[in-house]
Amino acid sequence: MNPYWSALVRDLKPYVPGEQPKLDNLVKLNTNENPYPPSPKVLAAIRGELGASLRLYPDPNAELLKQAIARYHGVAANQVFVGNGSDEVLAHAFQALLKQTRPILFPDITYSFYPVYCGLYDIAHETVPLTESFEIRIEDYLRPNGGVVFPNPNAPTGRLLPLADIETLLSKNRDSVVIVDEAYIDFGGESAAALVNRFPHLLVIQTLSKSRSLAGLRVGFALGEPGLIEALERVKGSFNSYPLDRLAIVGGVAAFDDRDHFEWSRQAIMWTRQWLSRGLAELGFEVLPSAANFVFVRHPTHDGAELAAALRERHIIVRHFKLPRIDQFLRITVGTEGECQILLDALSELVAGQAAA
Ligand SMILES: Cc1ncc(COP(=O)(O)O)c(C=O)c1O
Repeated sequence: MNPYWSALVRDLKPYVPGEQPKLDNLVKLNTNENPYPPSPKVLAAIRGELGASLRLYPDPNAELLKQAIARYHGVAANQVFVGNGSDEVLAHAFQALLKQTRPILFPDITYSFYPVYCGLYDIAHETVPLTESFEIRIEDYLRPNGGVVFPNPNAPTGRLLPLADIETLLSKNRDSVVIVDEAYIDFGGESAAALVNRFPHLLVIQTLSKSRSLAGLRVGFALGEPGLIEALERVKGSFNSYPLDRLAIVGGVAAFDDRDHFEWSRQAIMWTRQWLSRGLAELGFEVLPSAANFVFVRHPTHDGAELAAALRERHIIVRHFKLPRIDQFLRITVGTEGECQILLDALSELVAGQAAA
């Protein structure tokens, strides 16, 4: 260990992102990227921004982007916070709103960045087990807490919590902030964004990485009551004045302006998800109901880690988590129909052609 490290850095356990392999010709179904390109209008806007203006700093407030997001969600621009991917928005939200005396609550199986932020910001937390069928049960969160955070749909399960349940949680848990991380909401769920004007303790976080095919641009945002947004702005203003560059701002605005492309790509992914889920079920996999751009599956007789390794040998990459309760599962991103067919063909050989593990 380097002697110059701070005690904090010595104890950090950083998040491990899904692999971004350098190999070509891979079927890459491991990090929930969108298989379709971004809107041509986004690319045109970014090209239009490439020029002498790059010598100037961007608008620190990214006002045009906030306005585009506010228009889309039917809120005011001062109810929108933007950041460098929703990971950065989440990080600021943890520090600004969830560092309280009482421990915060999140599911035992969820986005594995949450405990990492708790480590970074020294936030006490308790995990709440999902049910046997991997669902969030709202009643389990109705106890004193410093805040509640969960993805909806949850990751990596893909299971959706109905908006009515979120409303119940917000009505019964009024003393702390509830953060709903909606990274995957556009693939079949109903956004809690509609509730931000009724509940001053609700923060909804979304991203352009998934449903708008812009994981490489790094744009995420939060919606909430202006007081909550101001808390995030205070952290941002103490950390980095320009988290969104000029290209991200114009690209983000164009993404919200091209509703047709957005609708087309999310419908295509939802259709492929249905088709892929049926194909996997026919191969004997248990497929959890998913409202996301991935499916979470396990086979009754084939080991999850071994399947992931065998797929990798065939140049197909899926995500496997070596974690309690879910180490038999594979999380498979919904790719194009062609990619999913390659996956189904490979799995068909693996589960039919070989003896059970
Ligand atoms: C549940 C969840 N939240 C947030 C993110 C972060 O997304 P980004 O930082 O690309 O906006 C991810 C990424 O996979 C995710 O799965």
